[in-house]
Amino acid sequence: MLDKTEIGSRLHGQELDSFTCRTDDSLWTGIERALDNGFGTLFVLGEDGTVRGQATLESMREAIRNGAHLKSALMSDVCKQVDLDDSTSVTTAVLDASGRLTEINLRPEATFLPIAEPNLSHAELRNLLDAYLSTWISSTGSYVRDFETRFALKAGSAHGIATSNGTAALQLALVALGIGQGDEVIVPDFTFAASANTVIHAGARPVLVDVDPESWCISLEAIERAITPRTRAVMPVHVFGRPAPMTEIRDLCSSRGIYVIEDCAEAHGARYDGKPVGSFSDISSFSFYANKIITTGEGGMCVTNDEGLSQRMKMLRDHGMKIERRYWHEEAGFNLRMTNLQASIGCAQLDRMDEFIGMRHAIHHRYVQAMSDVAGVTFPTQMNSRCEPVTWFSCVLVPETKRSALISACKAENIELRPFFNSLSMMPAYLHYARVCPVSRSLSLSGVNLPTFHKVDERMVHKIAGIFRTVLN
Ligand SMILES: Cc1ncc(COP(=O)(O)O)c(C=O)c1O
Repeated sequence: MLDKTEIGSRLHGQELDSFTCRTDDSLWTGIERALDNGFGTLFVLGEDGTVRGQATLESMREAIRNGAHLKSALMSDVCKQVDLDDSTSVTTAVLDASGRLTEINLRPEATFLPIAEPNLSHAELRNLLDAYLSTWISSTGSYVRDFETRFALKAGSAHGIATSNGTAALQLALVALGIGQGDEVIVPDFTFAASANTVIHAGARPVLVDVDPESWCISLEAIERAITPRTRAVMPVHVFGRPAPMTEIRDLCSSRGIYVIEDCAEAHGARYDGKPVGSFSDISSFSFYANKIITTGEGGMCVTNDEGLSQRMKMLRDHGMKIERRYWHEEAGFNLRMTNLQASIGCAQLDRMDEFIGMRHAIHHRYVQAMSDVAGVTFPTQMNSRCEPVTWFSCVLVPETKRSALISACKAENIELRPFFNSLSMMPAYLHYARVCPVSRSLSLSGVNLPTFHKVDERMVHKIAGIFRTVLN
């Protein structure tokens, strides 16, 4: 996929190729090319190179719904007339006197810019089609095994157990470790609700503690203070891609006989002390929801280095059925399985994970450069050299009193900003589980997530920075 964050917003010469096709190209060729350029749109050229029309993934989907044949339908059938003055088009063409394309302007600002969009190329589509055609569309299938093996390796772990989503992965981890009634699990107050919900649904009690003001992850001191004889596990969360101090947490917990369940939903590829997150703990979980660094639509995975736990999770994930004895249940289990269709997308995403991490890092760097002079904007603290964070969402802290004005000003310009998740201790569902958590509370009241995906080019970053400047000054 073209890296628009590198090439800027105007395409010339050979760069035009990924945004064009020929009238006699098949619909399938058009679909693959429109996916790969990341904008889902193409200019359709005649044999003489003149522009005959424009096609979008939307118009191609419509053609398929209306019965078009992927091979015999031609791009000339699905393209619509180009409106050179269309201010709502994300790509506009500049033509020469004879109607040939000389330049394309990429204009992500022309439509609503959400904070996230999945990055899906022809490779995911081909894998998905392959899985579909194999008819192994449930959870038995080679893509599931391949995804588990390769993702676990990338996460520095021996075993991967794919699940239907990231919440299911946390649930599986808790149950596999035997955590339930009467147990306490120490969870950061600043996290997405799934971290605490899964503990509650396992029958245990989440003990919500404050986070560190620099890392925004669970504070080591707060863990130490919260440990009681009932503490069975600690669940650090690498929030927004920022790694928690895993060596210290693991050492503390192992010296007290406490399990560690690492929630890596937001931090695929981050490292601490040179090791990938997910590789430090008894069990670690990941999410592959559509806004995550790599996605399978819905999806999740547990990873572990413990062969016994791996076997146990596979058994519990599949109704508690013995792996080597069909329809024999020694424990009441669950259905937490990932489908082969999900895993087929995951395999292609995994091949592109490093590219995604690089792209997200570049976008964050651009925000830092564009907003460093804006009074009232604070970027997260540079982490110490033991941490190698990834950017899930680029984020900033702003004065609490200005946050909703900022969100509204961006919305008026068709740009989504999202306030940080509410600290759990602020909400009725979790109030009575919480310690005093001033850092978490302050982050949740002042933080915003910025759009962080492949369409966020230099111009968009400057536009967003301009809105911040106007509102905050
Ligand atoms: C920290 C954290 N844990 C768990 C989850 C749950 O993952 P899923 O949405 O795949 O169930 C999320 C999802 O956003 C998350 O951010």
